[in-house]
Amino acid sequence: MNRIESLTIESVGATPMTAFETVRQRVAAAPRRWLVTGVAGFIGSNLLELLLQCGQTVIGLDNFSTGSRQNLEDVRRSVGSERWAQFTFIEGDIAVPGDCAKACAGVDTVLHQAALGSVPRSIADPQATNRSNIDGFLNMLVAARSAKLKRFVYASSGAVYGDHPGLPKVEEAIGRPLSPYAVTKCVNELYAEVFGKTYGMECVGLRYFNVFGRRQSPEGPYAAVIPIWVANLLGGKACMVNGDGQTSRDFCYIDNVLQANLLAATIDHPEAVNTVYNIAVGERTTLLDLYRMIRDRLQGARPDLRGVEPHFGPFRPGDVRHSQADIMKAKRLLGYAPSHTVAQGLDAAIPWYGSRPRA
Ligand SMILES: NC(=O)c1ccc[n+]([C@@H]2O[C@H](COP(=O)([O-])OP(=O)(O)OC[C@H]3O[C@@H](n4cnc5c(N)ncnc54)[C@H](O)[C@@H]3O)[C@@H](O)[C@H]2O)c1
Repeated sequence: MNRIESLTIESVGATPMTAFETVRQRVAAAPRRWLVTGVAGFIGSNLLELLLQCGQTVIGLDNFSTGSRQNLEDVRRSVGSERWAQFTFIEGDIAVPGDCAKACAGVDTVLHQAALGSVPRSIADPQATNRSNIDGFLNMLVAARSAKLKRFVYASSGAVYGDHPGLPKVEEAIGRPLSPYAVTKCVNELYAEVFGKTYGMECVGLRYFNVFGRRQSPEGPYAAVIPIWVANLLGGKACMVNGDGQTSRDFCYIDNVLQANLLAATIDHPEAVNTVYNIAVGERTTLLDLYRMIRDRLQGARPDLRGVEPHFGPFRPGDVRHSQADIMKAKRLLGYAPSHTVAQGLDAAIPWYGSRPRA
């Protein structure tokens, strides 16, 4: 059995281990020193929690531009004081080269998540997005190269597919970017490829597709649709659909993204590094279906939501109409096997939102 197959097929007794369980055990068996940038954000704080649970040493870097101290506090409570002692936080900015160098010192593997997300934010302020997402990305690559890091795993985005009409999206066929945010993620991929070729670095890009789950903030003008709708429905406010409701996305639960990061960080097959992967479920859900899935899951606690329909507004500039990932490459080369469908992810995420104190 080769290394890639072993990630999905290993089993203990009669119960086969999932790809996620297998890679978690692999990481736990060989502790290392990780840097998670954007550690106070949604995805970064979930990576931190997982790595500490796996007995790893973690350095975290964040400037709290969109992340929060509350996310770090949640992780501290979740993992307990002994595991929390394995975490060092650096408050700093990836657009400052010295902060990146400090964070990379003595680190084996980077999971680079820090960036300004959101297409509308990048349209409103392209320079701020460029500063974190391109200047900051390049600073992180340079710092990682100087520190001789083993592996640089970074967050790209399904936004790189831009105006390419093909569905499902395959890694090799991208179109022209539709927003400044998409430009920054395309540039990240180009820089990572060139650093692999010219400096021999091992970089792996993960094109996330509409991630959702615990600790994703519903607050602020650039919040994502799932946390906003859950918060609105729980708070008795109307939900707004941008467009006619038939716009579709490949919504991906956070645990699938965590799995992909561990796989990308630990895979040692040469064909699997210095490339990019779609990280999604491979399903397409329209916004209207998504709304109804959320509403129906909240109805147990809130019977008054029965039959409540959303409002419809204009389409958002820069948004692609349909998005669905082909995840065969990640399955084949990383051994990725999503643990949660959209429905299973919503089942897991919505109780977390329900238990969260509301402003
Ligand atoms: N959430 C999604 O659906 C999604 C989809 C595709 C790609 N991504 C990418 O995944 C990564 C993580 O996204 P997220 O959803 O967790 O967003 P998030 O906003 O919750 O987290 C990003 C974190 O990066 C930090 N940060 C931003 N600029 C920084 C800077 N200059 N210096 C230091 N820290 C900085 C923020 O404070 C925040 O804690 C980003 O690169 C994002 O572009 C996310």
